[in-house]
Amino acid sequence: MTIIAQGAEAIIEQEGDTIIKKRIPKRYRHPQIDLALRKARTRREAKVIAKLPIPGPQLITTNNTDTITMTAINGPKLAEVLDNQPLLAKTIGTLTATLHDHNIIHGDLTTSNMLLHNNTIYFIDFGLSFFSTRIEDKAVDIHLFKQALDSKHHLVATQAYHLFLENYRPKEREAILTRLKQVQARGRYKATPSKKQPSSKQPTPKKQ
Ligand SMILES: Nc1ncnc2c1ncn2[C@@H]1O[C@H](COP(=O)(O)OP(=O)(O)O)[C@@H](O)[C@H]1O
Ligand SMILES: [Mg+2]
Repeated sequence: MTIIAQGAEAIIEQEGDTIIKKRIPKRYRHPQIDLALRKARTRREAKVIAKLPIPGPQLITTNNTDTITMTAINGPKLAEVLDNQPLLAKTIGTLTATLHDHNIIHGDLTTSNMLLHNNTIYFIDFGLSFFSTRIEDKAVDIHLFKQALDSKHHLVATQAYHLFLENYRPKEREAILTRLKQVQARGRYKATPSKKQPSSKQPTPKKQ
C-alpha cells in the first residue's frame, strides 16, 4: 500500500489497481460536524461514481462514512499535460456536456481532477458533485472550470476555453451559455468593490 496523494481532505492510497480514498478528520471542525461532512461527501462521491456516464473510476466499495475503494487510473493529471496538448480541452468540453445532460454537476472542475490514460480523459474527485437539473448549477460548473484554466494554464487558457466551449454541446446549451454570462458578470461585480451590487449577503450598515 502506497500513499500517492494527501490532499486537504483525503489520503489516497494505491494497492495495485485499487485506490482507497479516505477522508481524514479536520481537527478545527466540531467533531460531529466533521463526521457529518465527511460522510456526506463520501456518500455523494460514491453515488455519483456509480452512475457516471463518462470515463471515471469504477466504484468497488464504500463504507458510506469516510472511505471509498475504486479502480485506479494510471496516468498524468490534465494539469500536467494541457499546456502541451491544449486540444485535449475539446474532449473536456464533450465530457462535461455529457455529465450535464445527465444532470450531474461536478462541483470542482479543474485539470487536477482529470487524468489521462490511453488517450482517454477520466474525471475524478466527485466529493463536491451533486445531481441537479438547474441551468444555474451547470453555468457555475463552467465558470469554475474557466477560473481553473485562467489560474493554472494562463499560457493556453484562452485557446483551451474556446475549444472547450465549442465542444460543450449539452441539450440546454443556449440557456446555459446565457446564464454563464450572468454568472461571469456577477463575478466581475464582486471583484470591483466600488461597483458592488446590492446583495442580501452583505451586512446592512449600522445605523448611526
Ligand atoms: N481513481 C484514481 N486513480 C488514480 N489516481 C487517483 C484516483 N483518485 C485520486 N487519485 C489521485 O489522488 C489525487 C487526489 O484525489 P482527489 O479525488 O482529487 O482528492 P482531493 O479531494 O484530495 O483533491 C488526484 O489528483 C490523483 O492524483
Ligand atoms: Mg482533487
